[in-house]
Amino acid sequence: MTTTHVTVLKKEAVEGLSLRPEAIIVDATLGAGGHARDILSQLNSDGMLIALDADESAIEALEGELKGDATVHLITANFRTLDSVLTKLDVPHVDGVLADLGWRMEQFAGGGKGFSFQHDEPLTMTFGNPTDEDSYPFTAKDIINEWSEESIANVLKGYGEERFAKRIARKIVEERESAPIETSGQLVEIISSAVPGFYRTGKTHPATRSFQALRIAVNDELASLEEFIQVAVQHLSPNGRLAIITFHSIEDRIVKHTFRTLAAEHGMTIITKKPVTASKEELAENPRARSAKLRIIQKN
Ligand SMILES: C[S@@+](CC[C@H](N)C(=O)[O-])C[C@H]1O[C@@H](n2cnc3c(N)ncnc32)[C@H](O)[C@@H]1O
Repeated sequence: MTTTHVTVLKKEAVEGLSLRPEAIIVDATLGAGGHARDILSQLNSDGMLIALDADESAIEALEGELKGDATVHLITANFRTLDSVLTKLDVPHVDGVLADLGWRMEQFAGGGKGFSFQHDEPLTMTFGNPTDEDSYPFTAKDIINEWSEESIANVLKGYGEERFAKRIARKIVEERESAPIETSGQLVEIISSAVPGFYRTGKTHPATRSFQALRIAVNDELASLEEFIQVAVQHLSPNGRLAIITFHSIEDRIVKHTFRTLAAEHGMTIITKKPVTASKEELAENPRARSAKLRIIQKN
């Protein structure tokens, strides 16, 4: 598996922002900077790029690197705090906002946070600093070792749509009685031993959904997304656009339904009647793009 991030739906997302050279654009999930670079190349010296990432290491890696004619602000922040970010910058309105949700490859493969079921790492799963208790009141390790069997099952079912949630939760609780579960490797073994044989040997790794669920819970991803959409829309200028790329059905449902409500109740226009998905060419180069869905909405 490649360890450098490959940007998904780059052309589609950036074109979808329909940006003018003097636009003010927010890239709410800077990541490895793939979308941001493309946006920046289209902005002139009156333009501005404000890029956020909850993971400080993403910001640090691109500080001084991401340059163009426009003003660039790189800020470590959760996108749910976009309102205070824009207030601090004294930028009340922006012309476009992009969010490309989830993790980037550098965090996933050997990033040290236990996001991947293919690496044995401490089980934190926070996008940002795990010792920042205001942002992360609990880590994946806390859920696994301290939460009740029922709560663990609810997380796995609710955020991962894991059909064997109850069996996995029961096994976790059983195993932690002898010793705490500290690493992603231990958790993978427990999940594998809890599920039926056909699931263990299926096309998708048996830990995929549980790992997704824990990550969503630790980072409070669904509430962050809901808050972010509302705040982003409030700060859009007329004709401004919000584009969001999701990677699983729970997030996509939130975006779809929130956009519908914004269209019905606030007169916004949904630009993508159906979500935009990756072309055959992109899928051939980047299998991760198979689950990507891009939706765009415009303020009138
Ligand atoms: C899929 S990557 C973005 C990749 C980027 N578009 C590129 O082309 O390189 C998602 C990034 O969003 C960050 N992220 C996830 N949730 C976030 C949130 N709520 N606020 C800010 N950043 C977040 C992650 O740390 C990760 O770096």
